[in-house]
This record gives sequence, C-alpha cells and structure tokens, in this order.
Amino acid sequence: MARTAVIGGNWKMNLDFEAAMELASGLRNRLGSHRGAASIVFPAFPYLRPVSKRLSECNISVGAQDLHVEAKGAFTGAVSATMIKSIGVTHVLVGHSERRAVFGDDDALVARKLTVALDAGLVPTLCIGETQSERESGDTFAVLQRQLDSALRAHTAAALDSLIVAYEPVWAIGTGLTATPEQAQEVHAWVRAHVSALLGPSFADALPIQYGGSVKPTNAAALLAQPDIDGALVGGASLKAESFTEIVRAA
Ligand code: PGA
Repeated sequence: MARTAVIGGNWKMNLDFEAAMELASGLRNRLGSHRGAASIVFPAFPYLRPVSKRLSECNISVGAQDLHVEAKGAFTGAVSATMIKSIGVTHVLVGHSERRAVFGDDDALVARKLTVALDAGLVPTLCIGETQSERESGDTFAVLQRQLDSALRAHTAAALDSLIVAYEPVWAIGTGLTATPEQAQEVHAWVRAHVSALLGPSFADALPIQYGGSVKPTNAAALLAQPDIDGALVGGASLKAESFTEIVRAA
C-alpha cells in the first residue's frame, strides 16, 4: 500500500535561539507549501513554542524530543506531555537511542512515555535500534523485538493509530556510517512483519516506519526507494534548511 512519507528533523541539543529561528524560517520558505512528504521538526524545549508559531501557517509539524511520564509536580527540570500539548505542539520522540544510552531510559520507561504521549494526544515517534555489538553478535532482531513488544504490548491498534516507528541502528547515528538500503530494508520488513503479528496486518501495512542514522541528501533517495522505508529521522542533516529540504523532496 502507498504510505505517505514522513521526514523528521531531530535538532537535538543544537543551535542557539537565533539560529533555530533562522532554520525555522528557512524551512518555512522552502517547504511551507510542499505537498509531498510530511515533515516534522524536533527543536530543543525552549524553542518549541516560537518555532511552532513561525511554522504555524505551513505544512511542517513540530515535536518535542522527549517527555516526562508524570503530569506535574516536584520533578525539577522535567517537562510533561500536558505542558507540551498546551503550547500547541503536536508530536514527540519517544525512546531515542540517546535517551536510552545517555539518560538511562530503559524499555519500561520508554513504554510508559509512549502511553503518556498517546494519552495526551501527542503523535509519538517510537525509536528503536540495535548497537554495533548487538548487531555483531547477531542479536539485532531480538533487541528490536524486545523494544517493540515492551512499548506496544499494552495498546490496541486503535490506540496506536497515530504511531510512527523510527528504526535507527545506533552504530549509524552521527557516525557517517549508514545502513545500506538493503540492510535497512531487511530490518524494516522484519519490523513490519513483527508489528503485523502484534497488531494485525492492516495496522502494520499502514504504519510509517522511518529509517534514521546518517541520512543525508546523497543517500536519502536510495533508502527511501525501499518498499518498507516510509521516511527518515534525520539528525545532523536537519540542521541546515537546504539539506533537510533536499531529503524531504527526495521522499
Ligand atoms: P544523524 O542522527 O542523522 O545525525 O545520524 C539521527 C538521529 O539521531 O535521529
């Protein structure tokens, strides 16, 4: 089936305020009336509201890079789903590998974050992926299965209607090493088959599965041409309006 491509731009902890607003303006000018692939940008928390205002009249969505599981209270430094929602932001990343590796988000916490995001009506991108050593020891599919089962098992297909999954092999993130289109396609097909076993074939067939890990204008088209790759989650190359736009146009 034809799925609409979705390209995410994960700005991570980059850009000062002025540069973030300039990037938002650059994207608005280039992609504001783009009618092909959907795009979502994920700026740092302090920029969410101004960036979403700057992009308000155009076809680019805005999301947070993370959320806290509690709704409110004494959690210094944390930001809740309802806060994100209350400033008009619609999307959120859940379980990015940097959250898992640097901040200790384990499968159980990622599962709770997904539930909280869905309950708040945010569109979640659930990130999954194996490390280099997990791939080398032949554990790729076991790792992905554990990550998917733990996050999805509590939910019905109807509750997960808005879900986006991003497959991001950890060894390809920020390293310049990209999975080959064939390597990525093999994993994406496996993810879709596994999701089909969990939630049914029509859900799996409609699910957007993004690839992430050193996606650039030069490799995007070949990755996106694969039948089970429905978009990309882009880090480094999303920090320049030109390169992000090229990737969106390749989709
Ligand atoms: P990268 O990051 O494109 O810089 O490899 C991707 C990601 O972390 O989502």
